[in-house]
Amino acid sequence: MLLSSSSAYGINRYDNKNENDSTAGDTTATDNSMKVGDTGCVIGFVMDRFCIDRGTLFDNPSVQTLLNPERHSVHCLIDVGSCVATPFEILTDPSPGSNRYNRAWTLSETAKAEIIALAASTGNPNNSPRCRECTNPDGEIDFGFRVIFNATVLDMGTSLYPPTVDARDIQAINIANPSSVESLTCMDVFGMEEIINTQSAQLEDPAARFRRMALAHGSLMLIAWGWLLPTGAIFAKLSKHRPGDLWFKVHRIVQVLGLLLALAGWIIALNEFTVFQSKGESNYHHGVMGITVMTLGLIQPINALIRPKAAKDGQAKSPARKIWEYIHKGTGWIALLLAVPTIVLGTFQLPQPNDQEAYQIAYGAGCGGILLLTSVLLVVDKSRFKVDEEPATGEDLEQLKSSNETNES
Ligand code: HEM
Ligand code: HEM
Repeated sequence: MLLSSSSAYGINRYDNKNENDSTAGDTTATDNSMKVGDTGCVIGFVMDRFCIDRGTLFDNPSVQTLLNPERHSVHCLIDVGSCVATPFEILTDPSPGSNRYNRAWTLSETAKAEIIALAASTGNPNNSPRCRECTNPDGEIDFGFRVIFNATVLDMGTSLYPPTVDARDIQAINIANPSSVESLTCMDVFGMEEIINTQSAQLEDPAARFRRMALAHGSLMLIAWGWLLPTGAIFAKLSKHRPGDLWFKVHRIVQVLGLLLALAGWIIALNEFTVFQSKGESNYHHGVMGITVMTLGLIQPINALIRPKAAKDGQAKSPARKIWEYIHKGTGWIALLLAVPTIVLGTFQLPQPNDQEAYQIAYGAGCGGILLLTSVLLVVDKSRFKVDEEPATGEDLEQLKSSNETNES
């Protein structure tokens, strides 16, 4: 059945400038024989590489990208900065015996721009999820942007990416209109065979890497900002009753260790992720908050290096010391407070819902529980310590005083 170019039949034609330059029917390239310059018909779902790399759809992490590309929203494809910034690929239908769509082709930059324009003109700006770039109030394609076009192979791809193709005569297929999908073949539309890339099954799985890196980053940040750094601050706040500078030693060691782990987590994030292209999305907010938290945290050891001397027993604090304490304590507590929503939002950036849940439990029950316990133990220790020390002999008090005087904090 040959489909007309009317959207009523589920197919929308995008008239690009090469429309008349038809090489349709020239060549039918197949796996082994395929080479640069071959032409043929391509049919499949358009997917941004960001959602392919994540393994799950950015705006619906419960859906695996290569299993259900028909559930990928046009909004995600053309509105979300991280998606638009990455190359687009064509996912062709699963091979027999498999339910995974094949990463068959990378679109050239020109083809990508034309497909974005086509998606905008076929998507409805009023439907949910709201597609900001969509321009057609009667548009019917909100999910699963499927296209058919006349392709020319531009390169043969790599072990990570499928071969690149250019595209002419691109047409959108409305998958919500079954009559258009079931019978639509390359032969129907272009009178030629579909060009097949059988190498796509051998591509490395990028989703495994993204998940590994996200978990490594998340774990380091959880240990650093969820546990160590608050523990060090709690020790500074609640264990000064102990003689000597135990609180200071604990604070310094724990904070330096915490910051080193956080720094490692940050380096992973900067190398692996690209959230700053997603203005307005949750990953962008997480990234901005993350950078603020890290900057405030890294200021701390630097200002600690130039701190004015602490007051000796019985002496008043110098004004310079008072100001430093305000700055160090203020910056520290603000950073730790801001880390809470940053971590919570971070857990939602993980590509797998199970991982999200596990990290949320680890943060809430794990870190929250340990911090609460540490605080309670230190408060109890303080009250006990006072009771124990009350009947202290003069010798005890002398010892306490001299150990306080050697306190370097
Ligand atoms: C690694 C080097 C650091 C050193 C040498 C250091 C030193 C100190 C000192 C001397 C104090 C006590 C101020 C006083 O009460 O007289 C203090 C308190 C504090 N520090 Fe640090 N600090 C370091 C890192 C950090 C970091 C990375 C943070 C948090 C991100 C932090 C957060 C705090 C907080 C919140 C307090 C106040 C606790 C309270 O309310 O009493 N510090 N620090
Ligand atoms: C206070 C702690 C945290 C800080 C400072 C932080 C910082 C950051 C920063 C700066 C980025 C953006 C990197 C870039 O694109 O250049 C980022 C991305 C990311 N973070 Fe965090 N993070 C924290 C906690 C977490 C946690 C606990 C998790 C997960 C359990 C997490 C998961 C992620 C993920 C998955 C991304 C990439 C998101 C994407 O590509 O869409 N983060 N983080």
